[in-house]
Amino acid sequence: MDKTRILVTGGCGFIGSNFIRYMLSKYPYIIINFDKLTYAGNLENLKDVESDSRYTFVRGDIASKADLASVFEQGIDVIINFAAESHVDRSILDPDTFIRTNINGTFNLLEEARKREVKRFIQISTDEVYGSLGKEGKFTESTPLSPNSPYSASKTAADMLAMAYHKTYGTPVLITRCSNNYGPYQFPEKLIPLIITNALEDKELPVYGDGMNVRDWIHVIDHAVAIDAVLHKGVLGNVYNIGGENERTNIEIVKLILSILGKPESLIKYVTDRPGHDRRYAIDSSRIKRELTYSVTTDFRKGMEDTVKWYLDNRGWWERIKSGAYLEYYDLMYKNR
Ligand code: NAD
Ligand code: TYD
Repeated sequence: MDKTRILVTGGCGFIGSNFIRYMLSKYPYIIINFDKLTYAGNLENLKDVESDSRYTFVRGDIASKADLASVFEQGIDVIINFAAESHVDRSILDPDTFIRTNINGTFNLLEEARKREVKRFIQISTDEVYGSLGKEGKFTESTPLSPNSPYSASKTAADMLAMAYHKTYGTPVLITRCSNNYGPYQFPEKLIPLIITNALEDKELPVYGDGMNVRDWIHVIDHAVAIDAVLHKGVLGNVYNIGGENERTNIEIVKLILSILGKPESLIKYVTDRPGHDRRYAIDSSRIKRELTYSVTTDFRKGMEDTVKWYLDNRGWWERIKSGAYLEYYDLMYKNR
């Protein structure tokens, strides 16, 4: 039995929880999920694996050196850093925690990796570090970094620190930059779960600006498979772009959800645009496809139908989230817009 000990930070969030479930089903590794349980972290997301003896949950903050020291003392072979403040709109309202978690937190993890000599450090980054595209072109790994939101700027700073640690100390860093994910357990502040759950409640569907911004959507399990490939086959010091080869305008996404649910387009409400709103993201994933023999396998229509079904079948999960503190956020974000 392989006793490799993987520290997954932010494992109670959307992508981290899907990744942990995927890894436990495929490998014998020991997984330590280190998560602060912010508004976005939810123990329910991994209830089904809690009794697995290879899985441990540790509540802690990556921005706290003391919290990290106690988990590293038990021995860690691999770090996969998902922990982050992840929502662009929240970064516009209140950037402070983004700096603390995304920059200082990643710095603390890099310091632990340097001192303890871990074997691999995967920094889960985002295509948003490249900024915004016009109608043509795609982001490659050598596209200059040009972030536009406090969120993407903080992720860029973390990437640069990680790369500097690789170059200066030989820290075994790999960076992944994925496009927009969708799938089960996504917090209903992001476009797809917000639209699905609002539509199920017959609430207005807020579409920013003209609805023509483009994102390249990938199913969260296709993202997990890509991280698996980077973990096992990636070359240290490399960046790997991960995309869905699936560019869609926001309005197209909203209309697709309405058609799957059989709800009327009259629910759509165009609202004031997001400040600094990136127009288009598109990823060139030829490096990961070619060098690590990776490919996306989820059909988008099928992936969206399954995702809508998950939100229909798990009403309690999102209804609990959408009461309480979420209501204050929603008011702040969408009232008078
Ligand atoms: P999420 O907001 O759903 O989850 C983030 C998790 O991190 C939560 O469980 C939260 O409790 C935890 N966390 C936050 N601050 C922490 C701290 N200081 N210490 C420990 N844990 C903390 O985010 P997500 O959508 O699952 O994104 C995960 C990662 O993937 C992020 O790094 C994000 O930048 C990146 N990413 C996301 C997308 C996307 O479409 N969602 C696309 C590309 C990259
Ligand atoms: P989001 O899910 O927040 O991801 P990101 O900003 O990281 O790409 O938003 C996806 C797109 O949907 C983005 O162009 C903003 C837009 N959007 C809306 O039009 N309405 C909304 O209520 C939200 C949350 C996003």
